[in-house]
Amino acid sequence: MAIAGGLFVSLEGGEGSGKSVQAATLVARLAGRGLEVVATREPGGTPVGERVRDILLFAREVPLEPSAQAFLFATARAQLVHEVIRPALERGAVVVADRFFDSTLAYQGHGWGLDVEMLRAVTRLAVGDVVPDLTLLLDVPVEISLGRGRARSDRWDRFETVDAAFHRRVREGYLSLARAEPGRFAVIAADRDEATVARDVAARVEERLAARMAADR
Ligand code: TYD
Repeated sequence: MAIAGGLFVSLEGGEGSGKSVQAATLVARLAGRGLEVVATREPGGTPVGERVRDILLFAREVPLEPSAQAFLFATARAQLVHEVIRPALERGAVVVADRFFDSTLAYQGHGWGLDVEMLRAVTRLAVGDVVPDLTLLLDVPVEISLGRGRARSDRWDRFETVDAAFHRRVREGYLSLARAEPGRFAVIAADRDEATVARDVAARVEERLAARMAADR
């Protein structure tokens, strides 16, 4: 089943918000309904995106100041939009993105202190008019998310090593982005059990799908 113009859903949140698990559950659910679903994760998903991911996340020997980070994320994102997301939407697929440009606004902007409006300009250059129809913000208090993140991996990660104050700014940044665009964002309390969060995620996406399908008729 195709949806005219597709449906673009992004998932956002801090470390250990359970975003990736929720993305996978959502993808399975939508695919089970006979929809074409395309899952992406950022940074990554294209040849250049995967290389950029290695540098950004795991290359401890490569110093990267915040604006250099922002450009690298934007590079990966531009190629992902071009190769994967835009074609999928044109085919009428549902795209489920594990992070999209709000991550740059929250992390490099609110977290590292870069000017958010300048970051929006860089982002626009990368994505053009490809903006999520729905952005699910999985919101978790920093104390919980950092505990979960540490439990998850012991590999060095550029972004998991910064302090709790940074993650607090990221969380507050996300919440302010959500307040500024209530039509696009849905904030979901993600400090609850996985099945409850999944039910809320599904409900928000079903609302958008129903509205989109009604508009097509
Ligand atoms: P990843 O391993 O994908 O973790 P997560 O499960 O938290 O998504 O790491 C992505 C990291 O990159 C994460 O710490 C957030 C950070 N990031 C930015 O700082 N800016 C961005 O634009 C994006 C997409 C990610």
